[in-house]
Amino acid sequence: MVDRRSFLTRVGAAGGAGAMFATMGALGLAPSAEAATRTPFQPPQPSDFRLRGRGAAKVLILGAGVAGLAAAYELGKAGYDCTVLEAQDRVGGRNLTLRGGDRLAETDGATQRVGFSQGQYMNAGPARIAQWMTTMDYCRELGVPLEVFTNSNAEALIYNESAGMREPVKWRTAKADVHGYISELLAKATDQGALDQRLTGDDKERLLSFLSGFGAIGPKSAGYAYTGGGRRGYSVDPGAGAREGTVLGPPPSLSDVLASGVGRSFSFEFGYSQAMLMFQPVGGMDAIPKALAKAVGNGRIRTGAKVTGITNTGAGVRVEYVSNRKTRAAEADYVIATLPPQVLAKIPHNLGAGVQAALRTPVPASTGKIGIEYRSRWWEQDENIYGGITNTDLDLATIWYPSYGYHGRSGLVIGYYNFGSAADAYARMNHAQRLARALDQGAKIHGDKYRRDVAASTSIAWSRQEHIEGGWIGWPSRGAEYRLLNEPQGNVYFCGDWLSYEIAWQHGAFESARKVVTDLHQRVLKS
Ligand code: ALA
Repeated sequence: MVDRRSFLTRVGAAGGAGAMFATMGALGLAPSAEAATRTPFQPPQPSDFRLRGRGAAKVLILGAGVAGLAAAYELGKAGYDCTVLEAQDRVGGRNLTLRGGDRLAETDGATQRVGFSQGQYMNAGPARIAQWMTTMDYCRELGVPLEVFTNSNAEALIYNESAGMREPVKWRTAKADVHGYISELLAKATDQGALDQRLTGDDKERLLSFLSGFGAIGPKSAGYAYTGGGRRGYSVDPGAGAREGTVLGPPPSLSDVLASGVGRSFSFEFGYSQAMLMFQPVGGMDAIPKALAKAVGNGRIRTGAKVTGITNTGAGVRVEYVSNRKTRAAEADYVIATLPPQVLAKIPHNLGAGVQAALRTPVPASTGKIGIEYRSRWWEQDENIYGGITNTDLDLATIWYPSYGYHGRSGLVIGYYNFGSAADAYARMNHAQRLARALDQGAKIHGDKYRRDVAASTSIAWSRQEHIEGGWIGWPSRGAEYRLLNEPQGNVYFCGDWLSYEIAWQHGAFESARKVVTDLHQRVLKS
């Protein structure tokens, strides 16, 4: 017997979302707006054109980043004639993996030659994927192998210099102390009746039981005191026979723990986009654009083509671009413009003053990274840190340990991944200065060995990347301008993570591509 759900799924698979909704309507299951927005993405299919007497349209896609490639890939499934114009000599946009032999230029003309050894790489742009993200679906569909990316690691460190910390503390130790003291305080308050207006007797009992485990605090007879314990870590690890281990302690006072500010770091891993497990493609994040480009067909992607004009002609769109120093023009029925808004705003167009003002509304955000390859994996050997991130209040912001190549001979650490004014400050330095500062700052956390055994390094300032000019953008508010650019302007569609609710994630780029592809396809089917 075919149940109602699998029947609808089959109708959906055969006839596209429109057919499925019509069938649901006939069955008396008229979809609510909420249900409609949850409809799984249905890529355009050649069968959608049957009986309509229309063919798929010609589409020019500006930018071969994740959004542009995904749009070309999805439209290509139904036979759209897509061409992707890309200013750089590679695909991927901000999805950039740097390996030995690559060259990295910045807008001031400085060029680095990447010297990483074989097998070492640096994800200069996106570097982590959450399990719920659409990016995972594309990795599955395109056969991009994945491995775990360790985003949070109890063995990694927290270091807040401005709070007067003289040495870093392990995440596990910081958590044990913060959770322990907070639990002690709440248990005392509960026991003394301070929360009686909110809690019944049963509530109080259950809360005390929870706090006992959450904070590893003492019993009522010991005043619910937090006194440390194995969660903090060991100065001598537990072993065999009589070696029960030596617990790290005693914990600092409650006041010192609060003053250290370590608890401020905890929230990063609570975010929907940052919670473990996270994933990365094996061998580098650029496996995603490479797989997309292969599926699109390299013949459809024109690299080294810098767009210099976009004109709605009424019947379609005319795009001018420069390639091999020659100005050329291409015509299409539709354009999907996936360039960052601050770049699009500099290209002459006839889309109107409202569009121009909207493109100027989002604010570009700076970010930068340095990859430092070491001749030994001292973080694993000496400090038991296998992947994960150290959080600091230094201008390097975070240090990332590699989630690949464990126990190998060498390894590559991200020595800074920072944002805003810190990223701007590093952007203004040349590479040698960035490295020197990163090593000085990192040595505060890992000691002098941080300066030794450096085999190679490369840094990137995304604000200085030609054709990109920023890490991502922020909308002052997602107001009229955001809505305007999420609608086609004549035959021009805008697309990218910057038009989504997951800016600075490939997920946002994929979702925006799916939205635009769906909108465009519905329009073509109706036309
Ligand atoms: N998505 C970016 C990150 O993971 C912002 O850091």
